[in-house]
Amino acid sequence: MNEYALIDSGHGRKLERFGKVILARPCAQAVWSPANPKLWKQADASFSRKDGLQWKNREKLPDVWHAHVNGIKMKLSTTDFGHLGVFPETRDMWDWITDTLKIEAPKRKTPLKFLNLFAYSGGATLAGAKGGAHCCHVDASKGMVQWARQNAELNKLSDHPIRWIVDDCNKFLQREIKRGNRYDGILLDPPSFGRGKGGELYKIEQALLDTLKLVKGVLSDRPLFVYLTSHTPGFTPIVLNNLLRQLIPGGKVEHGEMLLTGEPEAFPVPSGTWARWTTM
Ligand SMILES: C[S@@+](CC[C@H](N)C(=O)[O-])C[C@H]1O[C@@H](n2cnc3c(N)ncnc32)[C@H](O)[C@@H]1O
Repeated sequence: MNEYALIDSGHGRKLERFGKVILARPCAQAVWSPANPKLWKQADASFSRKDGLQWKNREKLPDVWHAHVNGIKMKLSTTDFGHLGVFPETRDMWDWITDTLKIEAPKRKTPLKFLNLFAYSGGATLAGAKGGAHCCHVDASKGMVQWARQNAELNKLSDHPIRWIVDDCNKFLQREIKRGNRYDGILLDPPSFGRGKGGELYKIEQALLDTLKLVKGVLSDRPLFVYLTSHTPGFTPIVLNNLLRQLIPGGKVEHGEMLLTGEPEAFPVPSGTWARWTTM
């Protein structure tokens, strides 16, 4: 079941449906003209960055609502930064993670282990759980880990083996290497700029190489994939591809753009990049 759709985009904005709520929000890359200007009247509320960060008609929206995004039920709520608790451009990746783990699981004697770093509201963690893997979800924000646990409950996955970790990713990885914990599939979506649990500054340009080296250190003896995504300008698909090729010689590296998609007449909107290393 999927209740997300990009309805239209253009003039630096995007119009999206999240279940029963339709929102118009900024989207710098949508430099074209809207395909169907009449559709924009449907928006229940809109967000703008023109005169500071502001919502219009936010009071008309429910404080919290739920929508299925590619089969995963997500808790949604408007934040002051215009985010909602889901990045729908990652939804095709969720399907790939579930399918890949499901196909591999019967070939293994022990459950597959999946690690989600910078895991936000947990869509990918739950995709891993749906694929049958034992999961580990790491994010420095206590509030976001709480939100992700609520999403696990909504999807009746509270009893699934998922470790919920509030920590700085690099510090966590260092500890996992020492503990000898290893993972068959790893996803990381490092922010351009972030803060660890203890306020540690994370700047992608300086920190990513260290994170990737640590990621390599927690790969299992029979790894399946390392999936790297980015929303940082300049981190193009080829940049991510080069990083993974250099990190792990051999295997196969693919890359592409993450896209917001939906109604057939809506132009797909590039919204980030990905590369994945696989042994398949
Ligand atoms: C770009 S979002 C990830 C989006 C998510 N992967 C998704 O697509 O739904 C970045 C996340 O990284 C977390 N974060 C930022 N710096 C961190 C750090 N040093 N260690 C762990 N998590 C961090 C933030 O709390 C935020 O949830």
